[in-house]
Amino acid sequence: VNRRPIRVLLTGAGGQLGRALRQARPEWMELTVLARGQLDITEKDAVAQALAAAKPDWIVNAAAYTAVDQAEQERELAFHINADGAAYVAEAAGKYGSRMIQLSTDYVFDGVSPAPYLPDDRTNPLNVYGASKLAGEERVRDSLKERALILRTAWVYSIDGPSFLTTMLRLLRERDEIRVVEDQIGTPTSVESLAQAVIAAIEKEVTGIHHWTDAGVASWYDFACAIRDEVLALGLLSETARVRPVMTDDYPTAARRPASSVLDKTATRRVLGCEGDHWRSSLHRLLSGVDPERHGTK
Ligand SMILES: NC(=O)c1ccc[n+]([C@@H]2O[C@H](COP(=O)([O-])OP(=O)(O)OC[C@H]3O[C@@H](n4cnc5c(N)ncnc54)[C@H](OP(=O)(O)O)[C@@H]3O)[C@@H](O)[C@H]2O)c1
Repeated sequence: VNRRPIRVLLTGAGGQLGRALRQARPEWMELTVLARGQLDITEKDAVAQALAAAKPDWIVNAAAYTAVDQAEQERELAFHINADGAAYVAEAAGKYGSRMIQLSTDYVFDGVSPAPYLPDDRTNPLNVYGASKLAGEERVRDSLKERALILRTAWVYSIDGPSFLTTMLRLLRERDEIRVVEDQIGTPTSVESLAQAVIAAIEKEVTGIHHWTDAGVASWYDFACAIRDEVLALGLLSETARVRPVMTDDYPTAARRPASSVLDKTATRRVLGCEGDHWRSSLHRLLSGVDPERHGTK
């Protein structure tokens, strides 16, 4: 089919999602990429100028303050980037008639519910990062109404990190033993799966609030064990640290995290027309392509 390319402006292009989207760009997408050094989303005038120049059909705001524990000490900065910055992008999008995808997080929920969270479930963030992302969601929706897609995801990893995966790869190599929490449940999500969902959402013009992660459920301990097993099976390391389960109470962190933050993706699967892969398959696929020299496992 011969159709007009869809113009997409990507902010935060140097992050995990930004890099994955650049790699996965389909032919029909005309992508303008702006990393932090080219566009700081907290600079309102610069944001407006970037939109005026690119006149995109869609903006993907992949720029965010993502240091969950550090955010407890940097509340203002986290809100400035995740709420004010997102709002500036949304305001400019409104002015130029663009649609917008605002990425958000499972950490908008408190994790008390044992059932997977639906997009309309009550939010109640436990930490500053989650609160700042929720404020971003609200400001984007206030500004763009039905022209915004809030896409919540969780436990995103990539091989170039920094992510749980890259941290584990290093610790499995360097340590004798790693302790990983067993009583926090969610879904590890390969950034490549997330990039495919973003692309599909643009293609199908999905807006509203949606959830996307890989399929299945795991604890951080399960995720760490799966990484260890893959690394050994693929011969990326010949021996690894022992992985031991611990409880959250034994592993204090600055930010509180939800105990169970599995996201219900039923509605999103329907509109995107795909179910997504099991997290274990995504992990296997990603690690199968790893160059041991480049990623320091050899
Ligand atoms: N990673 C996860 O587990 C996870 C889970 C749920 C939701 N999310 C959401 O998914 C989205 C993408 O996450 P990600 O993992 O790709 O994050 P990431 O790797 O941390 O990338 C975020 C990017 O935003 C940039 N940035 C920070 N402040 C900026 C500013 N003021 N202006 C422009 N760019 C700025 C960062 O640059 P610097 O590196 O130079 O600071 C970084 O390149 C975010 O909205 C995040 O909240 C992530």
